[in-house]
Amino acid sequence: MKKVVLTGIKPTGTLHIGNYFGAITQAIRLSQDYDARYFIADYHALNTVKDPRILAQDIRGVAAGWLAAGLDPERVIFYRQSAIPETFELTTMLMAFTAKGLMNRAHAYKAAVQENVEQNRDPDAGINMGLYTYPVLMAADILLFDADIVPVGRDQTQHIEMTQDIAHTVNTCYAEEILRIPQPFFREETAVIPGLDGRKMSKSYGNAIPLFASEQALKKLIMRIPTNSQTVEEPKDPATSSIYQLYRYFATAEEQQTLAARYRAGGMGWGHAKEELYAVVNRLLKPLRERYTDIIADTVRIDSILAEGAEKARPIAIATVRRLRKAAGID
Ligand code: ADP
Ligand code: TRP
Repeated sequence: MKKVVLTGIKPTGTLHIGNYFGAITQAIRLSQDYDARYFIADYHALNTVKDPRILAQDIRGVAAGWLAAGLDPERVIFYRQSAIPETFELTTMLMAFTAKGLMNRAHAYKAAVQENVEQNRDPDAGINMGLYTYPVLMAADILLFDADIVPVGRDQTQHIEMTQDIAHTVNTCYAEEILRIPQPFFREETAVIPGLDGRKMSKSYGNAIPLFASEQALKKLIMRIPTNSQTVEEPKDPATSSIYQLYRYFATAEEQQTLAARYRAGGMGWGHAKEELYAVVNRLLKPLRERYTDIIADTVRIDSILAEGAEKARPIAIATVRRLRKAAGID
């Protein structure tokens, strides 16, 4: 029996380079050796996206992004979280095994509370129960499908650890291996992709390079990367330059050496470094963008791929829920 790889992405905006290198490309590579189950976490997105048109659009956008990046729906079970009602049945059961204190310690919830405190607001202002119980829903996504590994960026490791914790509690309670314990999976080099400002690239920081931006938009973004006031003549340090840090993900080893040497030698201005970055980024993104444009134009096909995926996914989900209900005495 092959091991199972599973991951999900929330449709909360357009995909960016961080999602691509941190999660999508790894997941696609892993789908060659594992039984792969990848999904669009649309109920997770509902916590923050309340405009129905935007949510519907982002669900298809993220799906088209996965397909453009090379996900093969013949090989991967590809579905929407919302099409698997067992997710929500399992969530309710897992709630009974999840310590409230565990949720209090979740990074995303804590950050939202801290932000409120800093702004002199009520600590719970604007925090819905969906955000508070987010890790339980995510645990259900993972445990439902017997995942062995979950490829994600480093920011998600706490959620996977909480999933392990909840699964252990269930298994210990019934003295049986009912739920499979998953492991987070990421490569050190791509665990945290930096954004245009050097911080972690994230939709919420406004520092992201969208995967499918037009050439014009891409160029504009790159030209706007903030730089220091060093003159053209001055030697520059590649290690502290966000332009160079991003360049590494797109350039060959030889290209990286060449640009690093030019940085150190002096005589190269920031504008030039940005041109070099644009060239390698666009080299990778151009074919992706073209595939995306074709795929997103055919929403009927996207919807039918996701519906077929849900059909393959449900029997697995039903079996997990049945196992737990039986163990729990709710048969
Ligand atoms: P964002 O932080 O932009 O909202 P998401 O939370 O939707 O991104 O992330 C979707 C997936 O992409 C997750 O597996 C996440 O860990 C990964 N990811 C997001 N940003 C990065 C990044 N800068 N570096 C590496 N992986 C990332
Ligand atoms: N929490 C993940 C994120 O913010 C998305 C997600 C939801 C997920 N359920 C998952 C990732 C299950 C991996 C496995 O990016």
